[in-house]
Amino acid sequence: MSNPDGGQRALLVRDLAQLATPAGSEAPLRGAALANVEVVRDAYVLCENGRITAFGPMRKLRPGLGEAQGEVEELDGRGLCAVPGLVDCHTHACFAGDRVDEFELRATGASYEALHAAGGGILATVRATRSAGERGLAEAVRRHRGWMRRAGTTTFEAKSGYGLDQETELASLRAIREAGGIATWLGAHAVPPEFSSAAAYLEFALADVLPQAARLAVAADVFLEEGAFDVDEARRYLEACRAAGLALRLHGDQFTEQGAIPLAVELGARSVDHLEATSDAGVGMLAASAVVGVLLPVSALFLGRPMPPARALVDAGAAIALATDFNPGSSFCESLGVVSSLAVTQLHLSPAEALAACTVNAAHVVGLAARVGRIAPGYTADLVLLDAPDWRYLSYHLGADLVAAVVEAGEITWQRAAGRSEPKRPALG
Ligand code: NIG
Ligand code: FE
Repeated sequence: MSNPDGGQRALLVRDLAQLATPAGSEAPLRGAALANVEVVRDAYVLCENGRITAFGPMRKLRPGLGEAQGEVEELDGRGLCAVPGLVDCHTHACFAGDRVDEFELRATGASYEALHAAGGGILATVRATRSAGERGLAEAVRRHRGWMRRAGTTTFEAKSGYGLDQETELASLRAIREAGGIATWLGAHAVPPEFSSAAAYLEFALADVLPQAARLAVAADVFLEEGAFDVDEARRYLEACRAAGLALRLHGDQFTEQGAIPLAVELGARSVDHLEATSDAGVGMLAASAVVGVLLPVSALFLGRPMPPARALVDAGAAIALATDFNPGSSFCESLGVVSSLAVTQLHLSPAEALAACTVNAAHVVGLAARVGRIAPGYTADLVLLDAPDWRYLSYHLGADLVAAVVEAGEITWQRAAGRSEPKRPALG
């Protein structure tokens, strides 16, 4: 990125209480390396032309450091901690309407699966999304993207899957890209009502949607579950998507084990996501593979389901990532901070493991680990500044409004209004 006058653009974030980043340069991190976070106290980060060019302790900051020729904008980091811009590798951010009525019904006994079987659930959102129009969808993704940014997410993946017809699926993928998201074609999310079987729907989706979806999306995803698609249908869909050049992802083991992990390993998928119902055998098979297990603890919490076996996965050597699963039905939450808190309190990960799982490992899942997910020279200058004395507050301060500023490609894209964090003390007396 350069200035309109042709000069270079530089941002110096200085006097940070702490800077924390996954160490090294590998991706994905697994085993003991997942917990290897580099912490610098009293730190600075220098961003030039959209990239990080230097970081370290303030005492090593010298005038003329880096390549900046012209003016350097400064951002005061006193009392703040910098971590890499967070990467949300699993969202369903392209939807219209809401499911607040179902949310209330579920609280008093209706199950998610029963609502789905009765034509509600995902299909309720399909109806709202189909009638939103392309501009309505673009507006919805932009709004959701704004929520994510304020929660510290600088890179997000989003899936289609609430259109399930040619027009709305392609409009969804375009809306995601327009909002700066990484698009995944979730063409096999549910069987829409105009088709009498999963086989008939897949026939249509692969013939009439895949050819154009493959030009807009980077990956394909399938919901492999009772009441959605079975393992043979999932294999047929994913093999066709792979032949069209898409990376493969699966929603698997959410409610029941239906063979998602063996299929993901067989097909060389990028990830298998959810894993709330994964058995010990599944843990072992995933750990012995290159497939990343994407854990979605808010979804488990929101639906009152068991948490995925995160500790067992990490201890067995599996590569894991964390994500929000942001959607109107099973996880109406865009905050990776909340996800990190649940990762520590419910999944028994350390704050360091949680940080790596929603930065570098999530970046690997979306194919961007060489550019985002770390604070290191050469990486895109995406940073989150936390209003906290210690970077571990990201998971420690549950549900807090912690994000003081967001930097994307060296530009400040969001900053909390001055004075908001510390209200004036009322006068004594
Ligand atoms: O990841 N399980 C399938 N899909 C989404 C939920 C979609 C919805 O309920 O609208 C999930 O949880
Ligand atoms: Fe999902």
